[in-house]
Amino acid sequence: MTDQGSSDVTARTTGAALVTGAGGGLGREIARALAARGTTVVASDIDVDRVRETAQLITAEGGRAHAVRVDVTDPASAAEAVALAVDVAGPLSALVNNAAIYASIRRAPFAEITVEEWDRVMAVNLRGPWVMAVAARDALTEGGRIVNISSATVFSGSAEWAHYVASKAGVIGLTRVLARELGPRAITVNAVAPGFTLTEASYDLIENADTYGVARSALQRPARPEDIVGAVLYLTGPDSAYVTGQTLVVDGGRQFI
Ligand SMILES: NC(=O)c1ccc[n+]([C@@H]2O[C@H](COP(=O)([O-])OP(=O)(O)OC[C@H]3O[C@@H](n4cnc5c(N)ncnc54)[C@H](OP(=O)(O)O)[C@@H]3O)[C@@H](O)[C@H]2O)c1
Repeated sequence: MTDQGSSDVTARTTGAALVTGAGGGLGREIARALAARGTTVVASDIDVDRVRETAQLITAEGGRAHAVRVDVTDPASAAEAVALAVDVAGPLSALVNNAAIYASIRRAPFAEITVEEWDRVMAVNLRGPWVMAVAARDALTEGGRIVNISSATVFSGSAEWAHYVASKAGVIGLTRVLARELGPRAITVNAVAPGFTLTEASYDLIENADTYGVARSALQRPARPEDIVGAVLYLTGPDSAYVTGQTLVVDGGRQFI
């Protein structure tokens, strides 16, 4: 399904971007920021009601947005979502792979993670971006952009989170391969690796979320989604045309890689 938004910003529209996991949290803020820049946003999520809210919010803010349901683990669903996105918004200038399983992951020592839980995490967090890239490949314009949301936890490791950390490390590897394969079409593929960020999901995950990790960061304050979106705007914008295969860590200087 799609829901169509309307606005008065057609004149400054800069292509169409498909954002996954845009029903809330970081994905919603990325969608809002892209729309504020004039991009037509196709906000997608497995939860269609939440992604409709995102599209309505963007429309109320004067942007152009559509809501599309997608299950990123499912190639048929991904293909359908991309087809609908192109139908309502035109060829894609950007794909932002933000959807993931995060707060609902059962943390456990690596030897106690069940195969089912391992596969559940990998299916969304690693298969998902690949499935979406396959689905979007022909819909992306020459000079288009893919941004994959990884995590800064890849560089520090995080005990009892082997499945999540490995999935997000895999996203960085996938990013590099896609950069090589899509480079001839001038399509750039980069990853953004946020540090711990105060989304609704993070409050579900960590009891003392407001202070978690702050003392170890150079900037000595927690990250909000608005702190992360600038990296996505840069990597989907005109100033990053010669940047590809990279991973941009956005964690307030908690670690330097
Ligand atoms: N917040 C942080 O501290 C942090 C740090 C580093 C990296 N990240 C990454 O940043 C991204 C956003 O995180 P967040 O904090 O905003 O978490 P979030 O709110 O849980 O965002 C993830 C979104 O993906 C959706 N989703 C889950 N499975 C899906 C599927 N099969 N198909 C389509 N959509 C699906 C979720 O829907 P449901 O809620 O319905 O499952 C949710 O709306 C994730 O990739 C996360 O790993 C977050």
